[in-house]
Amino acid sequence: MSAHPPVVHTVDAIRTLVMQARAAGRRVGVVPTMGALHAGHVSLVEASNRECDVTVVTIFVNPTQFGPKEDFAKYPRTLEADLERLAGHRVDAVFAPLNEEMYPAGFSTYVEPPQAAALWDGVCRPGHFRGVVTVVLKLFQAVPADAAFFGHKDYQQSVVIRRMVQDLNVPIEIRVMPTVREPDGLAMSSRNVYLSPEERQRALALSRSLHLIEQLAEQGERDAVSLRQRMVATLEAGGVDRIDYATIVDPETLVELNELTGPAVALIAAHVGGTRLIDNCRLGPSSRK
Ligand code: PAJ
Repeated sequence: MSAHPPVVHTVDAIRTLVMQARAAGRRVGVVPTMGALHAGHVSLVEASNRECDVTVVTIFVNPTQFGPKEDFAKYPRTLEADLERLAGHRVDAVFAPLNEEMYPAGFSTYVEPPQAAALWDGVCRPGHFRGVVTVVLKLFQAVPADAAFFGHKDYQQSVVIRRMVQDLNVPIEIRVMPTVREPDGLAMSSRNVYLSPEERQRALALSRSLHLIEQLAEQGERDAVSLRQRMVATLEAGGVDRIDYATIVDPETLVELNELTGPAVALIAAHVGGTRLIDNCRLGPSSRK
């Protein structure tokens, strides 16, 4: 078993490490996570390794992006297992700050998220994206990397972060990598551990409905309203307990489309038992999951 990557707990220490690497001419990649690492996270580490000389993984369960009734308290915290999982990969440092390091007493400045944050998860999870963009900007300040790696799995998050970086002139390249799935199609997620075996079966309705409309779109179906209906019907038949949304949107504005005339993204958020799951896929030309 290879040695654990070094773990750094303070902003000063990680920033010094990154600045030294960059001063030495090395390209630095950062992979922001909340831990409970799975193969999806690891694929981002591998992407950073391919494109950068130094990879930093951040692990921080960010309280400001959870609503008062959400799962902040029970979110899996598995630092030892996470370090173990990273041991087989080239990770130059793990930044794992304590809450007090990121949000010291008196903290009161937040980033106002862009317009794309007002839709979809922004409606279902008020304040969520404000917490996300605030912590991501703070992480970019602590880890001033050349590039940051995010997953397509959280599609709206990737759009919101891209926009924040552009709007606030943050000098970092945002890379969004494909969704990693279980062999049966379920998108990997730290929240999948909440699913009972029976719920896990029902959770397959999300990827199944995306796969169905992907095929219909490939066969030439251009009516997004009808594709939406097929998604909802498949989710309901598969036994999800509640659909927050199942929609087809413009890839950049996230505004709902009624007709497929160019690239589009299908987005789903649905509850299975007590667990809220999201998934998505690209539709149309240059379809990439
Ligand atoms: P977390 O849910 O831990 O996800 C960290 C990164 O892993 C995100 O960019 C997410 O899109 C990506 N990811 C998750 N599941 C994936 C999968 N199956 N395939 C590929 N990538 C996947 O997203 C967050 O944390 C937080 O909001 C964060 C950005 C760290 C801010 O707190």
